[in-house]
Amino acid sequence: MAIWNLGSINIDVVYRVPHLPAPGETLAATEVTRGLGGKGANMSVAAARAAGRVAHIGAVGADGGWTVDRLMEYGVDVRHIARLTGETGHAIIAVDGAGENNIILYTGANSHLDSDMIGAALSSADRGDTLLMQNETNGQAEAAQMASQLGLKVVYAAAPFDADAVRVVMPYLDMLVLNAVEAAQLSDALGAELDDLHISQIVVTRGAEGCDHYDNIHKTRQHYPSVKVDAVDTTGAGDTFTGYLVAGLDRDLPIAQAIELAMTAGAIMVTRHGTADVIPDLKDIEDFKRG
Ligand code: RIB
Ligand code: NA
Repeated sequence: MAIWNLGSINIDVVYRVPHLPAPGETLAATEVTRGLGGKGANMSVAAARAAGRVAHIGAVGADGGWTVDRLMEYGVDVRHIARLTGETGHAIIAVDGAGENNIILYTGANSHLDSDMIGAALSSADRGDTLLMQNETNGQAEAAQMASQLGLKVVYAAAPFDADAVRVVMPYLDMLVLNAVEAAQLSDALGAELDDLHISQIVVTRGAEGCDHYDNIHKTRQHYPSVKVDAVDTTGAGDTFTGYLVAGLDRDLPIAQAIELAMTAGAIMVTRHGTADVIPDLKDIEDFKRG
């Protein structure tokens, strides 16, 4: 089976700073790096690192050819990435000494995806494949509708969070992935608890508190404790979790095993500076477990 990831591709410019800047403050960075990022690209790389077959559906601008090359080097099928004029999406990321971050996003090419192109990509998918999406591109609603008509599973990571965006795709979702903040925002916006939503599977990541899997068909909830690490940079950890989770499910792993792999991959990710370029592979996970 395969994963079709409708997702953002960003150029991540990461500044390491002594603390996150306050309003009006001028702050010197101690280091700057440029790399591949974007919640979509991070998930594609993570899924590929987790031995998943993944095709990325997205767009870059004139300055983004290298990001496509890099996705290809990481084993992602890049045939459905459009090359547009104008700017590639980018993210200005500040990371402090405690591993906390804030991110300024410019969506660029990510918000100019052509629906015919998305449709053409999905029409080459097979029944049983997975459509993965986040909220950093346009086109999710049509893609979700088409994918569910074609018999694909639809997985949505509600990041960056927007309650209306969740509402629009909700009828088509097989799985929703949220962090703890997003989960609270969604409950508030819908006036409902997660286990009352008409979404078969919901996975909530809670950082040091681990994660919860709500199976809303069988009405069960399973908690998974976190993998303890010292955080240096949490950027991309959630994306890594989701990419691993989806790849595990696409490879038919039992959900508990897919979640445990995803938790370990996310934990390793917070010990590393950077985003897509430092996502661990299955061998890194083996090494980590051996200690
Ligand atoms: O989740 C981390 C990602 O958010 C970064 O790679 C950045 O590009 C933004 O999309
Ligand atoms: Na990181």
